[in-house]
Amino acid sequence: MTGHGENGTMIEMIKVTKTYPPDVKALSDVSLSITTGEMFFLIGMSGAGKTTLLKLLCNMETPSNGLIEVAGKDIHRVKGRHLARLRQKIGVAYQDFKLLTDRTVAENVAISMEVSYKKPQLIKKRVKDLLEQLALSDKHNTVTGELSRGEQQRVALARAVANSPTLILVDEPTGNLDAGTTEKVMQLLTKCNNSGATVVIATHDHSIYRNTHHRIMELRYGKLHLVREGMVS
Ligand SMILES: Nc1ncnc2c1ncn2[C@@H]1O[C@H](COP(=O)(O)OP(=O)(O)O)[C@@H](O)[C@H]1O
Ligand SMILES: [Mg+2]
Repeated sequence: MTGHGENGTMIEMIKVTKTYPPDVKALSDVSLSITTGEMFFLIGMSGAGKTTLLKLLCNMETPSNGLIEVAGKDIHRVKGRHLARLRQKIGVAYQDFKLLTDRTVAENVAISMEVSYKKPQLIKKRVKDLLEQLALSDKHNTVTGELSRGEQQRVALARAVANSPTLILVDEPTGNLDAGTTEKVMQLLTKCNNSGATVVIATHDHSIYRNTHHRIMELRYGKLHLVREGMVS
């Protein structure tokens, strides 16, 4: 029996292998269990497989072998509206942002809420709040293609968390940010985590996990190693 979202396990990966053609083994026999409500840091050098692991968790890539359950469901088996419903509970901030570059900041951030038919008033307020928290208020109506990379990165984060997903996956969320802005990003993610969201952060920025009590695991040559056990808070 594997875990279920209801009784405490958000993510269950069992002996997952991912090989890209022709023979790049990005992940090899990775098993990982993440508790509902946990904040989890995934570290490792460039090319270690961090992005691949996150993409498997949001169904952007399919494992070559092994099983992946998210909230008790085999994410690569669920189909149609069940998959759509599961995907709506996952907020992803991609390493390469994937913003709609001809749309404004506000439009990008609002997308997930619009897709799930939230009230316009609610969307407006949430967008405004998030932009304030990330020091982007003055960019509300700016087309995202005109922003700096650091600004685009924060828009991607705001979009990922806007609809209060139960699982938040963020890939190198502070790669283009200065210390002050990094702090704001971590404050927002901590706030989401304190409200109950499970947060998985792939990073090689030690400043963001050094002074936390959360679990850290490192990918090395496609294998997962425990760096630090998390403390129950
Ligand atoms: N679409 C792809 N096709 C082929 N190889 C890939 C692809 N995506 C990633 N890789 C390779 O898989 C390995 C892991 O990459 P990635 O998951 O992006 O690592 P990280 O995010 O830790 O830098 C690297 O060797 C990378 O070159
Ligand atoms: Mg990466």
